[in-house]
Amino acid sequence: MPIEVDLDNRIFHLCSRNASYVMTVTREGYLAHLYWGKRLTASSSLLRVLAPISRPFSPTSEHNSLWSLDLLPQEYPGFGHGDMRAPAYQVLLSDGTTVVDPRYRGYRIMAGKPALSALPHIRASSSEDAESLEMELEDVYSRLHIILSYTVLNKLDVVVRSVKFVNHSANPMRLLRALSVTVDFPEQPWEIISLPGAWGRERWVQRTSLGQGMVSQESRRGTSSHQANPFWAMVNPSTTEESGKVFAFNLVYSGNFLAFSDLDQYGQVRSGMGINPFDFSWHLEPEETFQTPEAVLVYSDQGLDHMSRTFHDLYREHLYQGPWKQRDRPILINNWEATYFSFTEEKLLDIALTASGLGIELFVLDDGWFGNRNNDRQALGDYDVNRDKLPHGLGALAEKVNQQGLDFGLWVEPEMVSPDSELYRRHPDWCLHVSGRSSSWGRNQLVLDLSRLDVQNWIIETLSKVFRRANISYVKWDMNRSLTETGSSALPRERQQETAHRYVLGLYHILDELTHLFPHVLFEGCSGGGGRFDPGILYYMPQIWTSDTTDAAERAKIQYGTSLVYPPVAMTAHVSQIPNHQVGRITPLAARHWIAMSANFGYELDLADLTSEEQIRVANYVRFYKSTLRKLVQWGEFSRLQDPFNTNGVSWMFSDREQNEMVVVYLCLKTESNPNRTWIKLRHLDSRSRYRVRGCTLKPEEEGAWEAIAGDELMNVGLGVWPRQDYFTQSWHLVREKGGEGGGF
Ligand code: DGJ
Repeated sequence: MPIEVDLDNRIFHLCSRNASYVMTVTREGYLAHLYWGKRLTASSSLLRVLAPISRPFSPTSEHNSLWSLDLLPQEYPGFGHGDMRAPAYQVLLSDGTTVVDPRYRGYRIMAGKPALSALPHIRASSSEDAESLEMELEDVYSRLHIILSYTVLNKLDVVVRSVKFVNHSANPMRLLRALSVTVDFPEQPWEIISLPGAWGRERWVQRTSLGQGMVSQESRRGTSSHQANPFWAMVNPSTTEESGKVFAFNLVYSGNFLAFSDLDQYGQVRSGMGINPFDFSWHLEPEETFQTPEAVLVYSDQGLDHMSRTFHDLYREHLYQGPWKQRDRPILINNWEATYFSFTEEKLLDIALTASGLGIELFVLDDGWFGNRNNDRQALGDYDVNRDKLPHGLGALAEKVNQQGLDFGLWVEPEMVSPDSELYRRHPDWCLHVSGRSSSWGRNQLVLDLSRLDVQNWIIETLSKVFRRANISYVKWDMNRSLTETGSSALPRERQQETAHRYVLGLYHILDELTHLFPHVLFEGCSGGGGRFDPGILYYMPQIWTSDTTDAAERAKIQYGTSLVYPPVAMTAHVSQIPNHQVGRITPLAARHWIAMSANFGYELDLADLTSEEQIRVANYVRFYKSTLRKLVQWGEFSRLQDPFNTNGVSWMFSDREQNEMVVVYLCLKTESNPNRTWIKLRHLDSRSRYRVRGCTLKPEEEGAWEAIAGDELMNVGLGVWPRQDYFTQSWHLVREKGGEGGGF
């Protein structure tokens, strides 16, 4: 069984195929963390790790001068009672004090995994070899109960954690900090990998060493943000893509978060993740509960590659839901960079017609279709179609697009309101604001107060009407600013600091309703590109616009960083115009295609501007994506082969799950004169099989012959490429020879 309990030693051992996570209840009733790492056969002798060492200035128990909470590795540490390190939680009691001392009360084991009612969560049934454990703690003095939940997924080396607080006292109390997880590690050295960024430059890989003290990433913007991502990995300095240990955390949450590692004076590390305690508190009346979001913990002793594959499989199999969980994602054309706000029905239909001739499957109408929204200063909130631009309405446009053989998709930005809108004039108090203070604007707009049920219901009703007005099969859900003046006129004073979290809960409620009302619709998340790229959003919207930057070279880095955690099927990428609208760079059509085809593929330009020779090439790329690449990118396995942050190129590989067919993509970011040849070494092939390999030019006249190369040679010598100009690309298609598996020649 995934969870073994040794009642004699009070040890709880969560085992997956290659990993163990072990805790114990100490004699004093504390829940101590014993181990997380490579699978152990037995755990009964692990209590050794708790053997005390005398340490000055570590507060001790009055009965034992060697025993100190400051030195005890713990599952969910508090503060104020001897542990001087960063706590997992803090609570303000009705007497004004913050000292609590919860002790173990009992445990419960369940098959499968319980769902969370108002938060996105990992799903697993008992048949999927998942088991869950609840550990209940109680602070006798305050009657605060803390229930720690753990689920272990046997096949994936994943532990999912979350926490529930219950106020069983007769008085209110206030949570000041309520992280989803902390883990204590007994030794160093560590390096931290995180994914910070900026608008247009999201999720760049950052690797830093950990010295004494705290390192952290956090968001205070109300969303998970462009600037930080709720991903945190601790690795050894020697860890690479292919080898070494990784302990990774990812929060299933879309709002303010904190991720940190705190290296203490003795070389022990506490890492944690959860809702950002900054400007957060939660009021708990008697018998009220507070549930934290889930944190996903992934262990790998085979480097970052294995960590990423675990996250990818987890999210595709245990986070995604509904018909789009396994359905191929369509190739789309989006009109944004082609027209921005100025379009007519005729222009849109022209774009759709050219797209349909090239094999594209979905037409997406972006911003500017409603109210008097002719620029970004007005009309958010007024979702009546703009009859000047679309005189026959949305339904008629969708019908004409459908007649051209394309599905129809629509952009919305429902979390926002323009001060210049009917909605704002009718309901000025519906936006986040602090009474008596002026509100900050972002992209000329205000944020609707999604903590309010009336606002949530209005969004659900309004969008339902819009989605019923036309044959809509896809929705791009945008969100274009950070939260400020985060207060709600609907909440009492003691609950104002709940607004940011209630906003996220409100968003999840809306998304839950709409995705159930419109299950056939493919929802794509967007927040000025990738400003809210997290598992919370992916639970409802299985793909996300990765970045507003569409330049191939910039995208290579963004998609590489994003792939650390999120599968290629979660990312969308478009071929756009040159010079590129965000960075002015000119890259060849091939480079733009291979990077866009490395995700859910689409276009965002006026295809009619391409020459007829370019259009023929576009049709070839579309055909190849449909026939060969789509299934590998969306449902296969992904490997990073060359790192664009530390080399002058990028390379990655898509393969099917049986390793019978692969496509390898390479892009040179910056060449030098008279360069050496680069050798791209493949991974995960069968060393004794032979593979037929051919460069994919996708120009029938230049297509080379197939060449047979042994798997071990491809992995140890590699594929050679001579990158003689910037943005030069090369790609290869590999097919394993039949009968060659395991010793074919
Ligand atoms: C920001 C998005 O990221 C863009 O793709 C586009 O939809 C604009 N908003 C529209 O306003």
